[in-house]
Amino acid sequence: MKKSIRRLDESVSSRIAAGEVIESPASVVKELLENALDAYARTVRVSLRQGGKGRIVVEDDGHGIPFGELPLAVERFATSKISGTEDLEKIGTLGYRGEALASLAAVSRLEIRSLAEGSSGGGLLKCTAGVIEAHLEIPVEKGTRVQADDLFFNLPARRKFLKQAASETRKVGRLLRDYAVAYPEVDFSLSCDGRAVYSTAGVRERRELLEEQWGNDPAIHFKKSRTGDMVVEAFWQPHSTGGRLTSTVFVNGRRVTDPVIRAALSSLGAEASGLWFLLIEVPPGFVDVNIHPAKAEVRFKDSGEIFQAVRATAELLVTVSAGEVRTSFRGDSTWQISSPPLDAGVAGNVRTRPEVFPQGGSLFARVSSPPKQAK
Ligand SMILES: Nc1ncnc2c1ncn2[C@@H]1O[C@H](COP(=O)(O)OP(=O)(O)OP(=O)(O)O)[C@@H](O)[C@H]1O
Ligand SMILES: [Mg+2]
Repeated sequence: MKKSIRRLDESVSSRIAAGEVIESPASVVKELLENALDAYARTVRVSLRQGGKGRIVVEDDGHGIPFGELPLAVERFATSKISGTEDLEKIGTLGYRGEALASLAAVSRLEIRSLAEGSSGGGLLKCTAGVIEAHLEIPVEKGTRVQADDLFFNLPARRKFLKQAASETRKVGRLLRDYAVAYPEVDFSLSCDGRAVYSTAGVRERRELLEEQWGNDPAIHFKKSRTGDMVVEAFWQPHSTGGRLTSTVFVNGRRVTDPVIRAALSSLGAEASGLWFLLIEVPPGFVDVNIHPAKAEVRFKDSGEIFQAVRATAELLVTVSAGEVRTSFRGDSTWQISSPPLDAGVAGNVRTRPEVFPQGGSLFARVSSPPKQAK
């Protein structure tokens, strides 16, 4: 017999919703480090116990959360990053849904400590399974520290599916290394079970950060191209013996997987095999980031344009590094890289994610001068 339709209890619905956003320690770290970057942090420290299954801590020196707003930070759909539907058309921050902390709070024992820029006292918020247990004024260092213990302790089936600590740690390490390349102006570090395992302190060159991941043999090639308002920076390490093509892609400072970009690289064939790291900047209105629950995919308004831009940049990089200078590109004859292509080395100290896209101006107008930092 059919059961009647009933509204789920909040404690059940919040856990179901949380499952869309929080899948593993790496997805927790991704959300927390994106919050830190949105807060203009210059230092992001991550530490894990048991690969994050025991404890995940992300500390930043960003602008912090005002004491009175701490309870809102763990409420669903509460955000400081957008306010109206029109903002959804031009998202310039990594977060926008106001879901990450609420989701994390629903499936862990959460503690947030924060000192907001300009305030004299800090605050602590403690939550267990989404229920606020404490909201106190306490002394806090500048910035924000989020600690999540016992991930999925209240969803045993989900917890059982977490991978071994070593595997979760590897995923988090990979995530931090990728973000470190995308944000060379930020110092990232990772420690696991009390042992420091990764730090980018003071390293500002993307190439150097990539060499730490990929090694420097064979050499890493670089090309930056601009067409209209779109900028593509591509790093490529060819495979000496052919083989697979692996790509890491950031669009407007967000790590995504995108079939159009992958297809653009693959269309170059075996010649382009190897490791790719692409940083693509487009005006926020050119891309819809609100299409995936974990914000891991985007949709371009004009995917043909992005295909051509990526393909042309990659082809130039592959042909020039192979010593063959070609005068024209295959494909759409309307595509042009602005001449000359910008290939002036590695853009250290450039914050790649524009907060406010300059009207018709250069994508690189906003360099190394974010708004005021936390004191
Ligand atoms: N590290 C941080 N520094 C400063 N403010 C923060 C930090 N983390 C969270 N916040 C504040 O708490 C709010 C809620 O964070 P949460 O991650 O849940 O949502 P969001 O980032 O707005 O959107 P999304 O769910 O897409 O991540 C943010 O809008 C921001 O105002
Ligand atoms: Mg967020």
